[in-house]
Amino acid sequence: MKKFLRPFKFAQMKTTEDFKNIMAEAGLLFPVDENVDVLAEPVKIGNKVIPNRLCSQPCEGFDGNPDGSPSDLDIRRYKRIAGGGVGLVWYESIAISEDGRCNPLQMVIRPSTVKAIAHMVDEANKEALKNFGRRPYNVLQLTHSGRRANDENWKSRPLAVCENPYMDDHNSIDGSTGTITIATDHKIKEIIQGFIDGAILAQQAGFDAVDVKVCHEYILRELLSAFTRPGPYGGSFENRTRALFEIIDGIREHCGEGLDICVRLNAYDCVPYPYGWGMKMEDGVMEPDLTEPIKLCKLLVKKGVKLIDLSTMMPRYSPYGRGLMAEHEEGPEAEINPYEGCYNLWKATKEIKEAVPEGIFVCTGLTWMEQFGGNVAAGGINQGWFDIGGFGRQLTAYPDFARDLLEDKKMDRKKCCVLCDKCYDLIQIGHCQTGCVMRDSDVYMPFYKKNVQHKED
Ligand SMILES: Cc1cc2nc3c(=O)[nH]c(=O)nc-3n(C[C@H](O)[C@H](O)[C@H](O)COP(=O)(O)O)c2cc1C
Ligand code: SF4
Repeated sequence: MKKFLRPFKFAQMKTTEDFKNIMAEAGLLFPVDENVDVLAEPVKIGNKVIPNRLCSQPCEGFDGNPDGSPSDLDIRRYKRIAGGGVGLVWYESIAISEDGRCNPLQMVIRPSTVKAIAHMVDEANKEALKNFGRRPYNVLQLTHSGRRANDENWKSRPLAVCENPYMDDHNSIDGSTGTITIATDHKIKEIIQGFIDGAILAQQAGFDAVDVKVCHEYILRELLSAFTRPGPYGGSFENRTRALFEIIDGIREHCGEGLDICVRLNAYDCVPYPYGWGMKMEDGVMEPDLTEPIKLCKLLVKKGVKLIDLSTMMPRYSPYGRGLMAEHEEGPEAEINPYEGCYNLWKATKEIKEAVPEGIFVCTGLTWMEQFGGNVAAGGINQGWFDIGGFGRQLTAYPDFARDLLEDKKMDRKKCCVLCDKCYDLIQIGHCQTGCVMRDSDVYMPFYKKNVQHKED
């Protein structure tokens, strides 16, 4: 099993000051505020409003129906999330095509599923309206899984845009690798059209915005780092970002101003140049260089992209030095320090925000801060590191944490995610539906016992 270093005893930290001091002693100068009132402030996006500054980051449940429509578990998840009070619901990655699925139960947006997806959003909105008298701002993450694609039997079917010695032997989420196909320019054009068609359907389904996913191991992110690819989608900055801008222009042309466009973007990849994005342009050097990410964010904001959600290759891991590379190179026994990882990512987020102040940025990774996640979100917003606090697994464990933060001004430690990583084991080892094994155990412990423990025994 991979090892996350857990050097801090959060249960013994009684006050925000304790937390801040202990982290500072470890050299982690997180922005922290006792007062979380800023989280209740709305964010105006054109003529729409995000009612508060808490975001549920996309977390795929691997639990749609085989035809790509949402299942009852999907609907349950989004009712819990929207009904828990976050102002921004960033719906999980939904594939734009069958071959873009990362698992056989990933939802797919197509004419035959759009009604069911609309129903899911509607049910979630109703829950929020019932509890708070308003609905959240809803973003749908559109994706093509590229290297991470798997077929209906969980067989790895990687579609890459260029060779990558750091990743070629490790494509599927479970680390397996099928035969890699390098996408032709024609295939890339087909994928671009798939994103545009997906956005048209997302608008019909009632989303406020689509996220053109350019993060993690998926295909549009890979194009950003396609330094070695010949032709119109590789090499220069202009070529590597071409597909992204063709998608944005296509969505704007077909959907007008009624559908907002957002981007979840890797600030940097934690894979060395010339195979990683946002990295120092020296062979093999594992150090971010934000020159190109800043340039891209400026262009995205100029194009009217409303929100930029900054992440990195494997956001649960230390983003560079080790992180993704640790797992690849040292195997499942690698030791990973997520606190240093969060700090590096948030410092990069701050640098980008300072360089592009007109952009609205969401941060990633706040679940690691346990009961102090809201204090770091508030500190980060007040000190100009980002505009909206993004929480992933916390929503799976504690879907109404936003209500507690906004009403009681603090989170309840007893309800927090315990960072056990069992939700990830459900997908990585279990290849099955995922959710919180610890805090939602009636539903997910049976999946864990059947699909993970059983395999480990
Ligand atoms: C089970 C699971 C599914 C995820 N699915 C997605 C996804 O669909 N899209 C995405 O951009 N990130 C996905 N992520 C990453 C999360 O959005 C988030 O960045 C990560 O969990 C780190 O944030 P946290 O520490 O607040 O959980 C997923 C993470 C987990 C654990
Ligand atoms: S299974 Fe563990 S890591 Fe995942 S949400 Fe629940 S407590 Fe958090």
